[in-house]
Amino acid sequence: MSDIRVGLAADADRYRASDDLVWFQEVLPHPSELMLTGLRPDQRFAAEIDGADEATYPGIYGVYPLRLALAGGDGTPRQVPCAGLTWVGVHPDHRRRGVLSAMLRHHFEQVHAEPGTHVSALHASEPAIYGRHGYGLASLELEVKLSRGTTLTAPGLDEAAAEITTRMVTITEGDVPQRMLACHRDTAEAGAVVGALDYYERICLELPEHVRGKESWRVLFARRDGRDVGFAMFRREDKWEHARPAGELDVLAVFGEPAARLTLLRRLVDFDLVGTVKVRTVGSEDPVLAWAGGPRSTAAVETYDSLWVRLVDLPEALMARSWSAPCDVVVEVVDSAAPWNQGRWRIHADDSGAAEVERTDADADLQLGVQALGAAYLGGSNLLGLARAGLVTEARAGAARALWQALRADVAPSAAIGF
Ligand SMILES: CC(C)(COP(=O)(O)OP(=O)(O)OC[C@H]1O[C@@H](n2cnc3c(N)ncnc32)[C@H](O)[C@@H]1OP(=O)(O)O)[C@@H](O)C(=O)NCCC(=O)NCCS
Repeated sequence: MSDIRVGLAADADRYRASDDLVWFQEVLPHPSELMLTGLRPDQRFAAEIDGADEATYPGIYGVYPLRLALAGGDGTPRQVPCAGLTWVGVHPDHRRRGVLSAMLRHHFEQVHAEPGTHVSALHASEPAIYGRHGYGLASLELEVKLSRGTTLTAPGLDEAAAEITTRMVTITEGDVPQRMLACHRDTAEAGAVVGALDYYERICLELPEHVRGKESWRVLFARRDGRDVGFAMFRREDKWEHARPAGELDVLAVFGEPAARLTLLRRLVDFDLVGTVKVRTVGSEDPVLAWAGGPRSTAAVETYDSLWVRLVDLPEALMARSWSAPCDVVVEVVDSAAPWNQGRWRIHADDSGAAEVERTDADADLQLGVQALGAAYLGGSNLLGLARAGLVTEARAGAARALWQALRADVAPSAAIGF
């Protein structure tokens, strides 16, 4: 709608009041700037409409500058800049009138104008919202419940794991954000998002209301040769059943190379007074299920959507990734929210793992919405499967298979930490 204007949100109190209204959680008695830790003033945006309530904005959104780890041709992930869309909310009085659409249009224009950043990514509150705005579901995450004492078997990693020690600290200890950042940046697997320092400062911000009746969040660091090679964030909740200890240990995420993750998980399933260990942010092909002996060796496994990815600058985004096989395919892309992507593109990947992506007048081999390319961007969402499901249209038989073979990664993308 033409009367919606989107720009910088200069008023932190109004921004924060909008968020409180949208999410209807307890309003905490802390200054707005504290509540907005990690969200930089120049990354807070709002929609304005004449005559709207002045205590809140009609709509808000924010951006965390992140790095997205993509599968590299030689197996080493490469990290590319990524705009992490967050703090999205529209005042209940102004919903279903195009405020989100206007804010996303603004976001795509901002990202498109920013040198070096070609993709936007998010975690969705509801799965039906973002597909129509060009985001594709690029990775899945599991929540795995393990019983205390679960045996994690990995003979090929035992030697490496034996060289790793673990040490528990409280999340509020001085240098934890710096250590988290350095370790996450150095060990991120494809599919992960890595934040800047203020992102980890936000994670480590502990307000009294976050604790209430529970212990502080802890960080378990895995160390080898005096260096952090992994970490897990967790906390325990005291619980007793029939006079027996049945505490619950909630693990937000486990990061690091596989031997470090194995060592961390072995320690996490071995805490006294705990009955179950809930491990979140587990990638769909994470080894934890294999270590535990398969899904039925766990107490429960649930699957959720993890990262939604949107190609904002389609050719640059596609050229920034590695390609697994040669391909030469013309795609006809539908993208009404970022019209500069609309139309036909020739994707020509060669043996070296690089691709050229350029405009063409040639006949299309495949017709797809930009969200299908976002879904396949991390190499995890099967484009051929989408074609079989009728969500991508093949004009030339075999084109979906050829493009998918070039896009696919060896291992499904890891789950991305929440933001
Ligand atoms: C989700 C939300 C931001 C949508 O804002 P909005 O201004 O009402 O959205 P728009 O009017 O721009 O809608 C754009 C399109 O998305 C659709 N849409 C909006 N919200 C939707 C939802 N929750 N589920 C499914 N579709 C939705 C609209 O129907 C519309 O479709 P159309 O283009 O086919 O007509 C708003 O409802 C909200 O603040 N919800 C609570 C907080 C939240 O979930 N935020 C998202 C955090 S990830």
